[in-house]
Parts: sequence; structure tokens; C-alpha cells
Amino acid sequence: MSDNIFASKHPLVAHKLTLLRDVETKPKKFRELVRELAILLCYEATTDLEVEEIGVVTPMGQTKGQRLKSDIGLVPVLRAGLGMVEGIWEMMPGAEVWHIGLKRDERTLQPMQYYANKPVQPRVQLCLVLDPMLATGGSASATCSLLKEWGVAKIKYIGLIAAPEGIRKMQKDHPDVPIHIGAIDSHLNDIAYIVPGLGDAGDRQFGTG
Ligand code: PRP
Ligand code: URA
Repeated sequence: MSDNIFASKHPLVAHKLTLLRDVETKPKKFRELVRELAILLCYEATTDLEVEEIGVVTPMGQTKGQRLKSDIGLVPVLRAGLGMVEGIWEMMPGAEVWHIGLKRDERTLQPMQYYANKPVQPRVQLCLVLDPMLATGGSASATCSLLKEWGVAKIKYIGLIAAPEGIRKMQKDHPDVPIHIGAIDSHLNDIAYIVPGLGDAGDRQFGTG
């Protein structure tokens, strides 16, 4: 693993991921956990955001403060990435949200794009790709390629669980994109699901399994 892979060591992440994996966890609780984990992982992924100094007047006087320098784009990969947006957006209400719809063809395992929506004139300096599962890495890689075609200079990927296969693909296709992940699992099974993983992240959120 390279320097660009950041697997969380935070106990809260480990605790919540365990609940998320549990086959008994129902969609409502599952959605809450996805939201909470996304906030925690985003917090870890953004410790290097640039800030600029500004003045601030408090009730007691003046002091120096900071504000975020970069405009940020949140890029949920539909469907499963949708559950990761809201909580992060509350922390960064000024962020733009760009939706990308990809569905993995279960026969070829290739991602098929069915939707993409970005502003006509993007103003963001950093995009955070949000997708819970990094399995073969096809969806994450295609998303990063699209963002680069659109001119995005800086991208970070935030996900909940990765397979080593997906990490390898991202390192090959996009070595410049840091991967912030809740856990790195053992392997993919013969239908490219992450083991032990959590099953189908979209179905478990939306109750469609
Ligand atoms: C899941 C997941 C990722 C993708 C990961 O989405 O949310 O986008 O699979 O697999 P990969 O790394 O092998 O590309 P899926 O295609 O099942 O669509 P969904 O979110 O609509 O259920
Ligand atoms: N997509 C999922 O939702 N889960 C996996 O384990 C792999 C791909």
C-alpha cells in the first residue's frame, strides 16, 4: 500500500462500521450509520484543507480567524453514495454537489454511466468523491476520469470499505487521488462483492435487496 491510502484507525469508525456490516442492521439504522461514518471519514480526509486568515470581531474585541480557501465539490456516486452527502454537506454548506450515476454491469463488472450533472462553469478546486464501496475500483476510477475530463485538478476519494483489488486499480489509474477509507477488507468473491464487506450498499440503504 502506498502513502496515498488512509485507512481510518478511529475507534468510532471501527465501532460504527461493525454495526453497519451486521446482517441484522435494517435500512433506517444503516442510513444513519452511513451518514455518521461519512462525516467522520470526511473529517479525517480534510485535515489539510487550505485556509486563509481573516479578521473577526467577537463580543470581547477583535482577533484573527480562518476561513476555508477552497471551493469544494461533493460528488456522490449514485445510488449508494447519496447516503454519504447530507451529513458532510451540513459540515460544508457552501459545497457544490455534483451527481454522477454509475451502475456496475453485473456480467462484465464494468461501470455504466447513466447520469452526470455538474455546473456549466465549475468553480471548485477540490472534489470529494463519495461512494461507500471500492470493489473492483471500476466505478471510482471512471468517476475520477470524468472529473479530470471536466478539469478538476484535485480529487480525494472517501469510502467506507475497500477491497485490495479496488485499491490497486485506483493506484494504477489515479495515483494522484488519495483514498480515505473506513476499512480495507480481505478480497472480492466470484461476483466481485467485498468479503466480508457488508453486502450491497445501495440495496441495504434503500431497502431494495
Ligand atoms: C456499488 C457501489 C459502487 C460500486 C463499486 O454500486 O456503490 O459504486 O458498486 O463496485 P466497483 O468498485 O466494482 O465498481 P452499484 O453499481 O451496485 O450501484 P448502486 O449504488 O446503484 O446499487
Ligand atoms: N457494491 C456493493 O454494494 N457491495 C460490494 O461488496 C461490491 C460492490
